[in-house]
Amino acid sequence: MKFALSLVILSVLAFSEAGLLKGPSSRANLNHGSIQPGDRLLYRTYFQRYGIANTVQTQDFVYRGNVTTRISAVVAQEVGFTQYANAWVIAGGRGFNHVTVRAQTARGWGFYYLIDIWGR
Ligand SMILES: *[C@@H]1O[C@H](CO)[C@@H](O)[C@H](O)[C@H]1NC(C)=O
Repeated sequence: MKFALSLVILSVLAFSEAGLLKGPSSRANLNHGSIQPGDRLLYRTYFQRYGIANTVQTQDFVYRGNVTTRISAVVAQEVGFTQYANAWVIAGGRGFNHVTVRAQTARGWGFYYLIDIWGR
């Protein structure tokens, strides 16, 4: 019982620490470019990583279209409760036929994104 209680307190502390870093209601979604009339959803995928204690994890997601593909927008939305992760475009993106999205967890947390690639 005592052990269970201290676990609860620990997780509350971890939560408030993360909240202090980024603000209690911040959701670090990625909105790159903008969806234009006539664009199609070229690709949609879930991109997930589970938390590892005391560890910041980074993982890249790569989308490659064909030679005629033009990406107009890349959207990554957190699924479910926020885990204070971050996602950003490190290569390609709007105007290109490829994009690399890098996602990074908060220390000890995971990430769970729904990634949409829009374009034509
Ligand atoms: C290339 O990709 C686009 C989507 O970006 C698709 O509409 C088109 O059919 C593809 N062309 C070929 C030759 O596969």
